[in-house]
Amino acid sequence: MSGLRVAVVGGAGYAGGELLRLLLQHPNVAECVATSRSQAGKPVAEVHPTLAPLTDARFSGATPAEVARGRDVVFLALEHGESSRMAEEIFEAGPGMIVDLAADFRVPSLRLYERFYGAHPSPDLVGRFAYGLADVAGDSLRGATSIAAPGCFATAAQLALYPLAGLPLPIAPTLFAITGSSGAGAQPKPTTHHPARAHNVFAYSVLGHRHEAEVLQAWRAWTGRPDADARLIVHAGPFVRGIYLTLHARMPAAVGSSAASAVERYRSSYTGRRFVRLLDRPPELTHAVGTNYALIHAAASDDGRELQVSVAIDNLIKGAGGQAIQAMNLALGLPEETGLTAVGVFPC
Ligand SMILES: NC(=O)c1ccc[n+]([C@@H]2O[C@H](COP(=O)([O-])OP(=O)(O)OC[C@H]3O[C@@H](n4cnc5c(N)ncnc54)[C@H](OP(=O)(O)O)[C@@H]3O)[C@@H](O)[C@H]2O)c1
Repeated sequence: MSGLRVAVVGGAGYAGGELLRLLLQHPNVAECVATSRSQAGKPVAEVHPTLAPLTDARFSGATPAEVARGRDVVFLALEHGESSRMAEEIFEAGPGMIVDLAADFRVPSLRLYERFYGAHPSPDLVGRFAYGLADVAGDSLRGATSIAAPGCFATAAQLALYPLAGLPLPIAPTLFAITGSSGAGAQPKPTTHHPARAHNVFAYSVLGHRHEAEVLQAWRAWTGRPDADARLIVHAGPFVRGIYLTLHARMPAAVGSSAASAVERYRSSYTGRRFVRLLDRPPELTHAVGTNYALIHAAASDDGRELQVSVAIDNLIKGAGGQAIQAMNLALGLPEETGLTAVGVFPC
């Protein structure tokens, strides 16, 4: 499928900028419009200077419904809650596909959603969205017309958890993660101000980060255990891009001798998954930054009772725009790697 006409609603933000960078270089995309309420009329390259060689277009001030009409794909890269507010009229405009990067439609269980986000403003629409964890869902996304792209922490966490699902249930795995400041978006905040962040580390959303909702949703579905637990523990780190996550799990005594098979499961679970790279040693964050790859290392203790898994991703690519485009590719039946094979730069 070539000659795609796509739109990025919320193109002025960090996730929107990353979508534009990738879509403007995607070989099947013929036309890419970006909208912004705050930057309407401004050249895209004034807000995203690195895009200057790719486009001289300006941000459109069209409403999401206006821009969606006649489009093949509409990406929504808006702050939380905005997608719910405008989804109905976008559906009515009838684009071929909607890919939402916000959390609004990621959690089909309204009870779980409510626990972390409060009452859902558009509960009737949630069931229309497929969850776009591309490296797990793969070809099952084929034909999807509404996709909820996973959160950045949630992507790293689920890629660490997924292979464990077929083993005897580990005791509540702990997922310790640290993110760069771009995870908080383009609007300056006290916690992203350079002096507060540059040489600093701090925990936040203690015992209840919102991405835990989608992590629990998936973990419970994969294990078939509605009471299965997992804990996401998040930190802000002194770098701009990337998420580094470490899973630690204690295995039940009964699987004490199966440490090697637990590690082998990571290989078999991701066989053929182009964007998951299993490494022989823990990844380094900078080797994932700038790419759509998830770098994963899994190790078990000698007695087989403990598992430690490290994951490195770029929060704005694998954790946002890159994965959203990978899901679009899969939904359209394109090779999933189309437009996404760039490798990173190092040192960075
Ligand atoms: N950042 C990440 O790592 C990440 C990862 C995965 C998913 N997401 C999700 O993606 C969505 C967008 O996140 P984001 O990080 O891109 O947030 P963001 O940078 O704050 O952008 C969100 C919106 O804020 C407005 N905005 C951005 N820059 C602005 C500026 N300089 N001046 C005025 N308004 C500006 C834009 O809308 P208008 O111009 O129309 O006002 C933009 O669509 C969120 O739902 C988020 O949860 C983010």
